[in-house]
Amino acid sequence: MNSTRLLFIALILAFSESLLARSFAEQQEVGDGDLPISGYFFMGEQVRALQDDDFLNPGMFAVERGYEIWSSAEGGKGQSCESCHGDAAESMRGVAARYPVYDRESAGLVNLEGRINEMRTEYMDASEYPLESDDMLSLSAFVAFQSRGMPMQVDNSGEAQRFWKEGRKFYLERRGQLDLACSQCHDGLAGSRLRGDTISQGHVNGFPFYRLQWRAMGSRHRMFRWCNWAVRAESFELGSPEYLSLELYVAWKGNGLPVEAPAVRP
Ligand code: HEC
Ligand code: HEC
Repeated sequence: MNSTRLLFIALILAFSESLLARSFAEQQEVGDGDLPISGYFFMGEQVRALQDDDFLNPGMFAVERGYEIWSSAEGGKGQSCESCHGDAAESMRGVAARYPVYDRESAGLVNLEGRINEMRTEYMDASEYPLESDDMLSLSAFVAFQSRGMPMQVDNSGEAQRFWKEGRKFYLERRGQLDLACSQCHDGLAGSRLRGDTISQGHVNGFPFYRLQWRAMGSRHRMFRWCNWAVRAESFELGSPEYLSLELYVAWKGNGLPVEAPAVRP
């Protein structure tokens, strides 16, 4: 066992007891210990207050910028998202709650970011947004925001099933120098402290979110990279098949949680 791993375990033990008690109290707060618990309930009052107030929530800047993009024409066909989809509050309501989905054309999974880029290239004759660019984060935040409060309802049946299985395998596999699986932190240690953070159940219902540590918006895949890095494991590309399958599994695991985008996290 190397020293980093020992230090890590010592940290967990030092902080876990009091905080585990807190997480049980919070389970009661949401009413049912068997339901998934949003990351919202693992953070302090101050961060919750930021998320709850649209005037204070820093993620709302991205949503506003996303609305500008939604309604601006771009690309060779002179179209905007709005030209085809009209009022996003209607046409995009519930969409983010269902993603990622199986896509017949590519015979693979597509997440919201992937769908947005497909719209730009195929329907608008515009270039793809780089993943994690301000424009992509803003437009995906705007689309996800239209589903706020709706329960996550990701489908893992049919063609999606084999990707879901891959995602679950990834989630349960130990990896990195610290030899830890996603499940060991987010199921086993939820409620305990890791450095400055309280470990949540690792759900994706708040994305894209504003992470105070990053002072920036971030996507689900950026968070996966961070978590892989936290255990000194290999990380995958944003938008990679590995992360798409993982995203499907994690999103499905949180089915029933309300979409919180744009969430604020410490
Ligand atoms: C020329 C018309 C057109 C434009 C412009 C367009 N879309 Fe679409 N969009 C469609 C059509 C048609 C579909 C359904 C078929 C498909 O998915 O290809 C669709 C599907 C979607 C979906 C998936 C909905 C679901 O239920 O799964 C999303 C999300 C979406 N569009 C967002 C956007 C965004 C964001 C933009 C701007 C970047 C945009 N669209 C631009 C025509 C358009
Ligand atoms: C060493 C423990 C650890 C491991 C292993 C780990 N994470 Fe995390 N994860 C964290 C911490 C700490 C945070 C930040 C606090 C929080 O939101 O849980 C976090 C946050 C997250 C979040 C954001 C949750 C929210 O509510 O916004 C997601 C999603 C996530 N992790 C997914 C994963 C996935 C998928 C894996 C496996 C690839 C993984 N994590 C592995 C520690 C871990």
